[in-house]
Amino acid sequence: MNKTDSILFGISANDWDPYGPVNLIKFDRVDTVQVIYNIFEQRPKEKMFAVALEYRVGIMAPVPFEEGLLTRNLGSDYSFAEGDWRTQWLTPKRLKEATRRIEKLESFLTDDHPTLTVLALKFCLSHTVVSTVIPGMRKLKHVEANCAASDGKLLTHQELRLLSEHAFVHGWKYS
Ligand SMILES: NC(=O)c1ccc[n+]([C@@H]2O[C@H](COP(=O)([O-])OP(=O)(O)OC[C@H]3O[C@@H](n4cnc5c(N)ncnc54)[C@H](OP(=O)(O)O)[C@@H]3O)[C@@H](O)[C@H]2O)c1
Repeated sequence: MNKTDSILFGISANDWDPYGPVNLIKFDRVDTVQVIYNIFEQRPKEKMFAVALEYRVGIMAPVPFEEGLLTRNLGSDYSFAEGDWRTQWLTPKRLKEATRRIEKLESFLTDDHPTLTVLALKFCLSHTVVSTVIPGMRKLKHVEANCAASDGKLLTHQELRLLSEHAFVHGWKYS
């Protein structure tokens, strides 16, 4: 049963604003919140997730791959297809910085999460409050790989603790 006993009421946090909806959740009328949460953007854990658990609010996590960065597809000299909005957002300087950080995540790959994409998805799913992850996918092979990552084998507390050291609050706004 939801908060209003009728329709589900969800809100979306402003991009890269992990604190905005916290007081709104406490108002106790919200059923779900969509907030960007991934290995780089871990700030929702600081305040929002505890409050969401307390008020039984579901969290939907979009952008689990930090716009494709956490797939390992975008190297430091990657060229986006014509018309891809990320050309402006992921400048060569930003790509280089992100690539340097992503290389350090290789040590987290195991048989249970053998690729960075699986690691990135399981990172999101491993917090109890996260009920849905929303990866963007245009290729069938990505849909299949991402669905297969939902195998119930979550990251350990130790892995999550170590991954918290890889958070990266870059402040790159969407333009
Ligand atoms: N504030 C908000 O709530 C908010 C903000 C931004 C976006 N969103 C929503 O969140 C959703 C996801 O965001 P997004 O698509 O921008 O970012 P994303 O999910 O972090 O990254 C999408 C990128 O990852 C690639 N990818 C997906 N699965 C892959 C795999 N298994 N292996 C390799 N590459 C893979 C995709 O490639 P292909 O496309 O080639 O498959 C695409 O380039 C969208 O529905 C978007 O509308 C919400």
